[in-house]
Amino acid sequence: MPKRCWTRCARKGNPLRALLFQSQNGKPPADMSISPTRTDVEGHAPASLACGARQIVAAADLDEKIRLSHATARAWFARTLSVRRRTAAAAMPDQPGRPERPLLLPPRDMPKRAAGGRQGKIALIHSLAHIELNAVDLTWDLVGRFADRQMPRSFFDDWVRVGLEEAKHFSLLRQRLVELDSHYGALPAHHGLWEAAESTGDDLAARLAVIPLVLEARGLDITPPMIEKTLAAGDRETAAILEIIYRDEKRHVAFGAKWFRFVCDRDRCDPERRFQDLVRRHFKGGLKPPFNDRARAEAGLTPGFYRPLARLIG
Ligand SMILES: [Fe+2]
Ligand SMILES: [Fe+2]
Repeated sequence: MPKRCWTRCARKGNPLRALLFQSQNGKPPADMSISPTRTDVEGHAPASLACGARQIVAAADLDEKIRLSHATARAWFARTLSVRRRTAAAAMPDQPGRPERPLLLPPRDMPKRAAGGRQGKIALIHSLAHIELNAVDLTWDLVGRFADRQMPRSFFDDWVRVGLEEAKHFSLLRQRLVELDSHYGALPAHHGLWEAAESTGDDLAARLAVIPLVLEARGLDITPPMIEKTLAAGDRETAAILEIIYRDEKRHVAFGAKWFRFVCDRDRCDPERRFQDLVRRHFKGGLKPPFNDRARAEAGLTPGFYRPLARLIG
């Protein structure tokens, strides 16, 4: 970790836990699992939110990536961080840091996933863990890459919370793999998930359209049947994790819809039409029905946004 990016927390006798709960406006949500660890309390704080986000995305060690996510979120909600430093910040990494395993393969080279049984269960959880790890990096990349935009502080509050929740999702699934005598990295994983970040790197509206409102909204469509199947197979532990993910992801889509509308309102353009233009330009493959209209609507993503794009299939 570059030293210039991290400064020693100089608040003697004022542990981070106390800072966290002193905050008036920056209280983290009650259900966020960000209880401080000894290391975090005694460790370093990032120089800015953007700096913390950059370090998280760059980290190749996954324990470090998760630890930095917690430390950055904690410092942000304790209101000890500015969004960015006044001096020009280093650019976000082009690619997220990754360990040697899993082997990353192009989607077309991925072996067919085992169906059913213990191996099928592990393969499914492994692929979901990989998606959640990418979600960690995609979210912190959004925070860091768009830190120079004029957005309200609550915009960063929302996405820092999402970054922390994605870290929680990854950790839960990784732990589940260990419980099943496997681990994250035991199987190959596909390399295509970062494309969405690359194609929307300089356009906040496009990033919001593609990540929360297409990819995470897709999660709302497919997770309930996945929970049912998992329960039918008798795997209540994995189903419980999927329930947590489903609940959180609904909120992530809601944040996406809120901030997409905010940007459109500021730019004086029609959100539905802009969404459709951006998705056509930045997202390959079209949107796959069936849609979970109810969950999407609860998140503020009404059918006028996505229904016209379903026709792209065929
Ligand atoms: Fe997630
Ligand atoms: Fe998410």
